[in-house]
Amino acid sequence: MIALKQTLAGVLAARLADMTAEAALTTEQIAQMLEYPPDAAMGDLALPCFKLSKTLRMAPPAIAGKLAEDFTCEGIAAAEAAGGYLNFRLSDGFSAGVVERVLAKGDQYGRPDVGKGKTVVLDYASPNVAKPFHIGHLGSTVIGHSLKKIHEFAGYHCIGINYLGDWGTQFGKLITAYKLWGESAQIQAGGIDALVELYVRFHSEAEQDESLNDLARAEFKKLEDGDEENIRLWKRFVSISLEEYEKTYRQLGISFDSYKGESFYSDKMSAQVDKLREMGLLKIDDGASIVDLSEYGMPPCLILKSDGTTLYPTRDIAAAYYRQQTYHFDKAIYVTSAGQSLHFAQWFKVVELMGYDWYDRLVHVPYGTVSINGEKLATRTGNVILLRDLFAQAIEKVTDVMKEKNPDLENMDEVAEEVGVGAVVFYYLSGSRIKDINFIMEDALSFDGNTGPYVQYTYARACSVLEKAGSVSPRVMSGQFSCAEERELAKELSLFEEKVVQALQEYEPSVIARYILDVCAAFNRFYHECQIVSASDPQTRELRVSLTAAVKQTLASAFDLICLRKPEKI
Ligand code: ARG
Repeated sequence: MIALKQTLAGVLAARLADMTAEAALTTEQIAQMLEYPPDAAMGDLALPCFKLSKTLRMAPPAIAGKLAEDFTCEGIAAAEAAGGYLNFRLSDGFSAGVVERVLAKGDQYGRPDVGKGKTVVLDYASPNVAKPFHIGHLGSTVIGHSLKKIHEFAGYHCIGINYLGDWGTQFGKLITAYKLWGESAQIQAGGIDALVELYVRFHSEAEQDESLNDLARAEFKKLEDGDEENIRLWKRFVSISLEEYEKTYRQLGISFDSYKGESFYSDKMSAQVDKLREMGLLKIDDGASIVDLSEYGMPPCLILKSDGTTLYPTRDIAAAYYRQQTYHFDKAIYVTSAGQSLHFAQWFKVVELMGYDWYDRLVHVPYGTVSINGEKLATRTGNVILLRDLFAQAIEKVTDVMKEKNPDLENMDEVAEEVGVGAVVFYYLSGSRIKDINFIMEDALSFDGNTGPYVQYTYARACSVLEKAGSVSPRVMSGQFSCAEERELAKELSLFEEKVVQALQEYEPSVIARYILDVCAAFNRFYHECQIVSASDPQTRELRVSLTAAVKQTLASAFDLICLRKPEKI
């Protein structure tokens, strides 16, 4: 558990650190020890005393017993020893305070404010131009954007960069294919699909005819050397691809601060290559220039091919240098599939060897692979599901459900898009990022699993309760908490800030997605067990309506952090 001064766990940990001073543990360390018992009947929070036993020279149950004597702490109604545990029960004053705080702070509630004055550069999405834009790209896009939102929420100044893969041998292939088989009118009309067709055809024909690969290399070399015709074609391919990407980004509600792709660095690499050479870090191996990393247990980092052309790591080093000079980042985050982990470890090491003191601000955030209905993707053969088609399918299915559930919904198309796209996004973000995903549309779209539609539906439910309630939101709660569901819900809401900090520390949007599920589960239990708008006692009604308003606010902020739209009616 994360100790934040302002959270209950933080206050409690500070108090406990004080009381166990002989054990010489910091507030942080005590906070790490605090647990949420699996069964709330045992307590809302618990301190296992086992680790204290050695230094305090007492058996854990004796420590728990001693601490429980006359225990007082703001927000805690009772502390009871049970075996080696000290169990705490939150006070109703604490629960009321949470609701008041959420309502008073609004969209500022839960902000950890740890990033003030710091700059983070996030490199994500970054598709390779002219290759199909498929579901494999979604991971980097939604994880990256979510990390950006979470950092912004925590006060960091963020720069989101879509580092387009707009340079490299694939353009040699595409230019070759276009010159052999393509036509201007065909790519004008067919857009990215026509480009992908050419790309796929190149690969299948090159399997029969090796010489095509030599042609492609030569075309790329011409491009690097500034050949006019090739530059013109390249620009056209890039802009056709961008048009397609932007449609998808719009559906996701994502935009970027910079689209500087690999090509932008074509004239910025030689300075880094020269520096490497001057420092004696470059070795010639079979004609290629490499940095030997055997001392660090890694294969060499390739800097220049034998024909003098640059490589992916070369561009990354130049780009990192440029970003440091431009943004003076405190952290630079790169979100890619785990398949690229070695690439990042290698060039991060090269940056360190080059003596750049910002090398330790570079962070690679990897994620697992995606298959669809159990099948792996293969770009080269065209065996892929395009994002566009995936979203279209999801939207269509959601529309069918809505026509049945809520045929009179006014803006059905808009909502179906928000829910359909949200379903896919939530499916991606709800598991830890490093786990492989097997995408199954029915699972993602289900309204009663742990899904996007389920949480969006719960949000809409909170909105409809509030609509029925009319005007809401007293800033001071006068009603009494009267049932476990209310207290549980308030406790859940109190955890938001801790979860945001955990998501930041672990670069893990799934912490927020799972938190959303917890809040929704607690809200739905409350909704089913307690009368809200129809409660007969006015103070109870007021308390429950306020609690609902606090749920709506907390979910709204949490949805924003994981790029989930917030339809108020579904
Ligand atoms: N374009 C690359 C790909 O699709 C990802 C780029 C990631 N960012 C970076 N700085 N290397 O595989």
